[in-house]
Amino acid sequence: MTLRIFSLTALVALAMTVGIALAASYPEAPIVYDKPVRGVIFSHKAHVDKGLSCEMCHNRLFEMQAKKAQENKDFVMEALYQGKYCGACHNGSLAFASNTRCATCHIGVKGEERLKSGSTPAKKGH
Ligand code: HEC
Ligand code: HEC
Ligand code: HEC
Repeated sequence: MTLRIFSLTALVALAMTVGIALAASYPEAPIVYDKPVRGVIFSHKAHVDKGLSCEMCHNRLFEMQAKKAQENKDFVMEALYQGKYCGACHNGSLAFASNTRCATCHIGVKGEERLKSGSTPAKKGH
């Protein structure tokens, strides 16, 4: 009896672990936006390593499709300042504000070329 309850618990735990492992697959390579301006970096690794869960962004903020957001006309700084997209967190409380540290997000054309050539992008000041 106790054993059966235990194994059921173990099974549920296993299923959950497998579920989490499957859910945890995100693209390794950073996404680099090119519209309206070229060279804006988003790295899943940098964010997930900070302990953010998938649901924090993949609820209403972002679809699970790279560069989908840049199809929207309002994917611009003004929207970020109003708390949309990246600005939901990059507001100076959860993460550095969108009106600061421009070059941390804007790696530019050169930064993008460095990424593609495989070398690590220059570390920006923290
Ligand atoms: C800090 C925000 C954030 C977190 C946390 C996050 N994502 Fe994403 N994810 C994004 C953004 C932004 C995009 C690109 C959407 C766009 O450009 O419109 C994206 C795109 C994706 C894509 C599509 C990639 C492609 O090449 O089309 C997958 C798959 C994905 N995310 C999975 C995950 C999983 C799994 C997790 C949790 C482990 C996760 N994401 C956590 C922001 C996030
Ligand atoms: C769910 C909250 C959240 C969203 C949405 C989010 N970020 Fe972040 N981001 C963070 C946090 C937290 C950090 C780390 C803390 C900090 O640096 O202030 C971070 C750090 C970063 C960094 C620095 C990474 C590094 O290597 O140090 C960049 C660049 C960045 N975000 C870009 C973006 C861009 C571009 C978007 C939108 C496409 C975005 N973020 C959306 C929470 C978020
Ligand atoms: C948290 C990341 C982040 C930070 C910080 C950031 N940007 Fe942006 N920026 C974006 C994203 C995302 C876009 C839209 C995607 C694209 O254009 O590639 C964008 C687009 C832009 C655009 C073109 C659209 C528009 O609003 O006119 C300009 C110009 C711009 N940023 C300037 C700046 C300046 C100046 C700063 C610093 C004061 C800054 N950005 C800081 C993420 C950021």
